Amino acid sequence: ESELNLRPQSLDEYIGQEKAKEHLRVYIEAAKGRGEALDHVLLYGPPGLGKTTLSGIIAREMGVEIRVTSGPAIEKPGDLAALLTNLNAGDILFVDEIHRLSRAVEEVLYPAMEDYALDIMIGKGPSARSIRIDLPKFTLIGATTRAGQLSAPLRDRFGVVMRLEMYTPQELGTIVRRSAGILSIDCDEGGALEIACRSRGTPRIANRLLKRVRDFAQVLGDGRITNDLAKLALNKLEIDPLGLDDVDRRMLALIITNYAGGPVGLETLAAAIGEESVTLEDVYEPYLMQIGFLARTPRGRCVTPKAYDHLGLRMPSAAREDE
Ligand code: ADE
Repeated sequence: ESELNLRPQSLDEYIGQEKAKEHLRVYIEAAKGRGEALDHVLLYGPPGLGKTTLSGIIAREMGVEIRVTSGPAIEKPGDLAALLTNLNAGDILFVDEIHRLSRAVEEVLYPAMEDYALDIMIGKGPSARSIRIDLPKFTLIGATTRAGQLSAPLRDRFGVVMRLEMYTPQELGTIVRRSAGILSIDCDEGGALEIACRSRGTPRIANRLLKRVRDFAQVLGDGRITNDLAKLALNKLEIDPLGLDDVDRRMLALIITNYAGGPVGLETLAAAIGEESVTLEDVYEPYLMQIGFLARTPRGRCVTPKAYDHLGLRMPSAAREDE
């Protein structure tokens, strides 16, 4: 029962991301109709929303092979050249964390994406020259949590740019029910929805929580995941009704108690709670902003009145705008 079995294999099986799916269906059918490779695709958004899954589906629907790698794994231009020269026409190269490609590798990627060619330098000094190697017409799918960190020249070379959105509790509930079916877990509607509500809009988290809740159901109950059992298990896991964990709560409480609700700089915050600033930015902040608990301002992060309410804390009256 690996993650792989839970991954949908086709756009029809894939739940949520309706706009992305609708557009992809058109692009895939059009490219296939012309007998061409799909244009390069950039997928961005918070981790766990299905960027890798969607790329696998695109390959399947195009009827091509996919090679999977990541920005940090491609250390030298030669590593990228090796990957690209081993592709067949129409194949997909999936580069996760594409914002972490080195400058040198990125520069090899430009002509590869634009002209399906590699420019290789031979020799050094006055006799150095470059030769051009033709590549198969391939599709690059890049995935990143931070589109803003991509260089403009790289971003501009993607014909399709898609932002994946957080899932609604209803969508996540459907995903949980589907996963439960695949894993032969007895999970009713109320149980699935409770897990869904506490999964921060993220299928990867929903599927992980489903497995942990199953453990509690098996040991503390009769194996069935009901709403009550899910609540009990998730409370034990210290995941609150909105899906916030210890780090979320510490972060919000710290801004409130030490910085009067903000603004406070990201680095200051990260140091104070002992997490990396990129983790806070990529993993924790997107959901807190999505549910309206945290705001980014030019001067730093601010906690909103909604967050005070959720934590059962009272806002200092000077900062209250609602009375
Ligand atoms: N499992 C993980 N993500 C999914 C999705 N978007 N649709 C269906 N099953 C999933």
